[in-house]
Amino acid sequence: NKYLVIMAGGIGSRFWPYSRNNRPKQFLDILGTGRSLLQMTYDRFLPLISKERIFIVTNGIYADQVKEQLPELSDDQVLKEPLRRNTAPCIGYACYKIAQKEPEAVITVAPADHVIFNEDSFRSVINIGMRAAADKDKLITIGLKPNRPETGFGYIQYIHSEDDVKKVKTFTEKPERALAEKFLESGDFVWNSGIFVWSVAAIKEAFNQSLPEMAELFEEMEKDFYTDNEDTALQTTYAQCGNISIDYGVMEKADNVFVVLGEFGWSDLGSWNSLHELSDKEGENNVVQANALLYDTNNSILKGPKDKLIIAQGLEGYLVAECDNVLLICKKDQEAKFRDFVADVKDKK
Ligand code: GDD
Ligand code: MG
Repeated sequence: NKYLVIMAGGIGSRFWPYSRNNRPKQFLDILGTGRSLLQMTYDRFLPLISKERIFIVTNGIYADQVKEQLPELSDDQVLKEPLRRNTAPCIGYACYKIAQKEPEAVITVAPADHVIFNEDSFRSVINIGMRAAADKDKLITIGLKPNRPETGFGYIQYIHSEDDVKKVKTFTEKPERALAEKFLESGDFVWNSGIFVWSVAAIKEAFNQSLPEMAELFEEMEKDFYTDNEDTALQTTYAQCGNISIDYGVMEKADNVFVVLGEFGWSDLGSWNSLHELSDKEGENNVVQANALLYDTNNSILKGPKDKLIIAQGLEGYLVAECDNVLLICKKDQEAKFRDFVADVKDKK
């Protein structure tokens, strides 16, 4: 009764121009390993969950890319969303659909775009989570030791105990900087990894409690799951669904949240800088995924197509990324500018 739902419908705009609207980062071989982040996520869970029970939720426009990358999955394991509504509807759709066939299912929900270093340790943490979730009324999160006051993550405050599964006091999604600093100092908080484990009963109850309107929409849809009418019914459902993440919609409100602490080496690979942090460096702290000749170049990232030779001299802390029709050259630490880049490029078209 173990199921896996991989969420693969995000855009990944901070990896632009490598990550594009029609080809977001989960479909890219960002690490240069030969497997995309989605494929690596799938591979990581295969020893735990049999492949017939793995579902990928993505936007309809990406369904073909999913099938291409994971040809071993059948069509009905790729759940196509008609609209982008963030992770609460994504999880609602998948969990209500699985629930209909398998009311006793224990479902792990995972993002498609994370990097995990120690996969054995990761799997033992997920195993603990799955065992605890079988308890029916628990929402299990996986917590990670924070090392900076990151404002892009959720923070989980837990009650210290010897148990592997610890009771959560508060869940705060994407706090302001000052609050994140306080959380970090206090030592009572871990980052939310964005991976969840729960039983069908627990997630349905959580939707009923915290997102009752959405729960009702998916309940109404139950008669349409696994029928020819599913796509049409889903359009109606999504059109009425709020646009909200599971973190704000459910996790912040629920009082039956538990956390298993993980120390398996994790990165959500949110940006070029995080890629730099976790990649093997060449020469003077450079990350080179390109055919490149470097002179006096430090602390930089170079990413380009194999058939182009990049020759660089005198770069310090730069990102050079060529992809399709875009060549981006910018200071590596100017992540906040990416929003502007993307917007301005749109205007130019
Ligand atoms: N199918 C589908 N549909 N997937 C989606 C959608 C959607 O509308 N929106 C996002 N996703 C996928 C993304 O592709 C990603 O794999 C995952 O859901 C999480 O979404 P993000 O948009 O990346 O969330 P986040 O990074 O801002 O925050 C979450 O992850 C953090 C850890 O990386 C939260 O759970 C935080 O609390 C957590 O700390
Ligand atoms: Mg993310």
